[in-house]
Amino acid sequence: MTTLTQPALSSLIDRLFAEADAAEETRWPAAADDRADYRRYYGELRDQPLPVSRATGTLLYMLARSIRARSIVEFGTSFAISTLHLAAALRDNGGGRLIGSEFEPSKIARARANLAAGGLSDLVEIREGDALETLARDLPETIDFVLLDGAKMLYPAILALLEGRLRGGALVVADNADASPEYVARVRSAANGYVSVPFADDVELSMRL
Ligand SMILES: C[S@@+](CC[C@H](N)C(=O)[O-])C[C@H]1O[C@@H](n2cnc3c(N)ncnc32)[C@H](O)[C@@H]1O
Repeated sequence: MTTLTQPALSSLIDRLFAEADAAEETRWPAAADDRADYRRYYGELRDQPLPVSRATGTLLYMLARSIRARSIVEFGTSFAISTLHLAAALRDNGGGRLIGSEFEPSKIARARANLAAGGLSDLVEIREGDALETLARDLPETIDFVLLDGAKMLYPAILALLEGRLRGGALVVADNADASPEYVARVRSAANGYVSVPFADDVELSMRL
């Protein structure tokens, strides 16, 4: 039995994914087309959980377990469905710290409630505000694992904030990275210090050299 497969947590995650499936039948706002516009876009989606897929959630748990991650940073927390998977991995790795980031206050409240319901609040700090600011300071000395799942156009800028702290062998998972060609080009160039592959349809999986 793992933390992820404990009945209380797995039924919470099942319920949150089912609610997300139902919510996604609503209309999508016009896409954000420049950096000034992403706040409006996500503001219009404030009631939408927008989680990673079920398979990606399980993958996050597996990857964080397999590298024995203790220090995780997440760009884009939303209702904390991905966070529950990553914090479960921290628990099973013997503890650690996950720094999340989210700028929609109502989402932060729901994320905290979900983490409390999952018994994982003690492992997670959610930083409130734009991640360009909140992840620019007070980072752990080393970072083992990063999930990029906020505004896609910011992936290169957020990676740049974290890059100096990534340990050799650190993993970076970027959800829907194909929406940021600049990011994909950056991590696929060995000269930039990564090995990187597209993975499981919608994820770019990169390892820091
Ligand atoms: C796709 S959802 C994240 C889903 C979450 N990772 C999960 O799987 O449960 C993206 C979230 O990132 C937030 N976001 C986007 N850009 C952000 C930024 N610059 N700073 C903080 N939060 C941001 C949005 O409000 C939204 O809730």
